[in-house]
Amino acid sequence: KRMGLGTVAIAAGPSLLTSCMDHGMEGEAPNVEDGIFNNPLKIPQTISSTSTLSAQTAMDTLANAKQTPVLGYGNGLLGPTIRAQKGQNVNLNFTNKLSEHTNIHWHGLVIPATMDGHPDHMIMPNNSFNFQFPITQQAGTNWYHPHLHGLTGKQVTEGLAGMFIVESPEEKALNLPSGAYEIPLIIQDKRINTNGTIQYNPTMAEVMSGYMGETILVNGTNSPFLEVVSRFYRFRVLNGSTARIYNLVLSNGADFYVIGSDGGMLPQSESMKSLLLSPGERADVLVDFSGAKVGEMIYLENKQFSGMGDAQGVQGYKIMSFNVTNAEKDNFALPTALLPFTKLSGATKTRPFKLTMSMGNSREGMHQINGKVFDSDRIDEIVNLGSTEIWEFDNTDGDEAHPMHVHGVHFQILSRTGGRNTILPQESGWKDTVLVAPKEKVLVILKFEHKGKFVVHCHNLEHEDDGMMLNFEVI
Ligand code: C2O
Ligand code: CU
Ligand code: CU
Repeated sequence: KRMGLGTVAIAAGPSLLTSCMDHGMEGEAPNVEDGIFNNPLKIPQTISSTSTLSAQTAMDTLANAKQTPVLGYGNGLLGPTIRAQKGQNVNLNFTNKLSEHTNIHWHGLVIPATMDGHPDHMIMPNNSFNFQFPITQQAGTNWYHPHLHGLTGKQVTEGLAGMFIVESPEEKALNLPSGAYEIPLIIQDKRINTNGTIQYNPTMAEVMSGYMGETILVNGTNSPFLEVVSRFYRFRVLNGSTARIYNLVLSNGADFYVIGSDGGMLPQSESMKSLLLSPGERADVLVDFSGAKVGEMIYLENKQFSGMGDAQGVQGYKIMSFNVTNAEKDNFALPTALLPFTKLSGATKTRPFKLTMSMGNSREGMHQINGKVFDSDRIDEIVNLGSTEIWEFDNTDGDEAHPMHVHGVHFQILSRTGGRNTILPQESGWKDTVLVAPKEKVLVILKFEHKGKFVVHCHNLEHEDDGMMLNFEVI
């Protein structure tokens, strides 16, 4: 079952093999070990959108009862869940208590460019920045993380990430499971050294395929379990990994009722047996445990898949367990209609983004968009404020999966051709990140409502840090 990363390079062609050999290939297979699921799932604390936040170093217990030095927005890995109301003004005073520069990008929030956390925006050690912006979008599951060119993968892997949930009165009126029955699940993989430290120093092969850790954490918990009662739950699932794609299933064959995707709620829920989620994507799902027996353990698992590049999906494994502790009746019924959704139309321009590779002798700049590597000073695309466009992410010549993400807008997926030719429920509705698998071409429609300089990039963070990112300016 073990799969060497070497296989990845061989599949990508002889030139890469040569260049990788020059740089020395190391690294074991991304072989996830099944846990024993004896650690209670950590639930990040919740803070309001008018408070303070700092990036700091901390110690956390991630694996083998060893103390791990981590980064976080609190006392351990990750950060608090920020909850904001639609129509509210966010006011977060952020302090960088790290010894390196950082910043915050509010992934999924459609806000002014000056608040968006462009890589140009650096917050130096011991400096503060006051993030102030209005929440104008609908209820949904968003997140926040650093966004520095060349350092994003490292800082996210070391622990800087958190959820940002937008709520609204319309959503409240749906009476979805809340409180103890609404649980964030931030899924991330890490490579943890035997001394407890997190290893993040991508090899050449990992810059190609993406970093794959052997330990899967949920909310920063290794081998977690969650005690549940036999009723409906709402899970806000975030793939917070740098590169690993998940194809989630429940071990008892139960459905995920998908009620929302990246940018908010779907018009109606759709039931799915599996949930494909690439880095940066979110799925808002309901799970009905009412058929489960007390004492039962139901696992959240990754089901083996293919077609996403050789390092992805090569094995199935368990991620966490839901331990059913009590029989409880809820009288929750799935709403037939969720929130209204309007289809975008009337695009005036189609803009191509060709996802390309260049195998040089340098380990930087291999991943490109339209043949270009990120240059912060160069504006690659100019877009008119208020216009609607179709963006074409073209991976027809590619061998790797690229979850493409656009800042400053939400989009809708129009089509996917060349590969699986489907748009999944968690890909419908308002999106900001879309998986573009090898050989695929994906068309999205977007409307630009904020002026300024934003980025479009691959959310495989090793690819992003390698330069797979362009600037666009809305004027
Ligand atoms: Cu979640 Cu530009 O990133
Ligand atoms: Cu983003
Ligand atoms: Cu990519």
